[in-house]
Amino acid sequence: MDWEAYAREADARDPLKGYRNDFFYPEGKIYFCGNSLGLQPKGVRESVNAVLDDWAKWAVEGHVVGPRAWKPYHERLTGALARLVGAEAREVVAMNGLSVNLHLLLTTFYRPSGERRLILMEDRPFPSDRYAAVSHARLMGFDDAVVHWPRRSPHEPLYLEDLLRFLDEHGKKVALALVGGVNYYDGQKYDIQTITEAGHRAGCVVGWDLAHAVGNVELKLHDWDVDFAAWCGYKYLNGGPGAVAGVFIHEKHLRDETKMRREGWWGHDKATRFAMPPDFVPIRDDEHVITAESWQLSNPAILPMAALEPSLALFDRVGMPALLEKQKSMGTLMENLLRDVPNVKVLTPAERGCQFSIAVENPKVYERLTAAGVVGDWREPDVVRVAPVPFYNTHSEIVEFVRILKTTV
Ligand SMILES: Cc1ncc(COP(=O)(O)O)c(C=O)c1O
Repeated sequence: MDWEAYAREADARDPLKGYRNDFFYPEGKIYFCGNSLGLQPKGVRESVNAVLDDWAKWAVEGHVVGPRAWKPYHERLTGALARLVGAEAREVVAMNGLSVNLHLLLTTFYRPSGERRLILMEDRPFPSDRYAAVSHARLMGFDDAVVHWPRRSPHEPLYLEDLLRFLDEHGKKVALALVGGVNYYDGQKYDIQTITEAGHRAGCVVGWDLAHAVGNVELKLHDWDVDFAAWCGYKYLNGGPGAVAGVFIHEKHLRDETKMRREGWWGHDKATRFAMPPDFVPIRDDEHVITAESWQLSNPAILPMAALEPSLALFDRVGMPALLEKQKSMGTLMENLLRDVPNVKVLTPAERGCQFSIAVENPKVYERLTAAGVVGDWREPDVVRVAPVPFYNTHSEIVEFVRILKTTV
């Protein structure tokens, strides 16, 4: 098979090929690191400059005047984020960073009672998630409350049946499950709907860290009855370093007037916030339902929100189905080509997004890839992560990457 010719043809036919020009693409590189930091959309400078201009022109009045007033600025992001995660607008808010938001959500949703006090996570969760979970349990007086969906061996994926068995055996002791939608380490995509249902059957609250899932896989959080979720904006969402993050809280919880949260003035009723009342009143929408905005604490950083907007506009223009189709085509090519590379083991199973995690025998591989212009990353002890992203990568880059990989192993 002439893979180069195959890739050239696939790229020529690619309906998304023009979008690469909407990003600043690092010259001379194969950029396969969109799972860590997405590239800068070319519209970012203008969007950020517009905020700087408003600040220069209006000073404090910029909070309330002009088409991009800062007081309601976060609302500009809500619709696009809700579409990306499959949510109602009231269920979503852009705010803070991911780890901060996980803490805020754990405060609301980790309510241990009696023997139901465990927090269930996948094996090898992102460390920050584990720190958050362990610290919440400890704050409640519980040591050793975090348990993990067991892995059969280090280079194997996680199996749903093992989780279901765990829930059968220990589910009544689990207060909350917090799982990554796509695992950061091996790129395995979990079945969010099935796991959420299984958690609910066992009586647990089920929340998701979607850092590696948002903008990367299909999400229908509302319909899947997910209790809560959080994600960051700098990976597949291309919001820039330290981008503003996002939160989902299911409507059924928003309608539960007994739900508790950490409270700050930016979560207070918009109409009376500046009357500075002593008591907190959560934000409600036109139908008088509390919204996820009520979880906001501080007045938000406007510049990072402006930086995220152009990418969200691109997602709205292209839509996830087209991105997923190209992802599938590039992923299948990568999978086929990696089969012929000696001395490596692909850890990522068929259930995946863009990312491939490749365990290598030779510890020099990553260094050599980098020297040859491949931008991926390395995770100890032996894993190279690469993620061809539909917005700006090509089939030909995959062929070239695997050609280079073969020279490094
Ligand atoms: C899966 C996952 N969770 C949490 C985090 C932490 O994110 P932040 O530094 O934005 O809090 C990351 C960062 O890469 C991540 O990949």
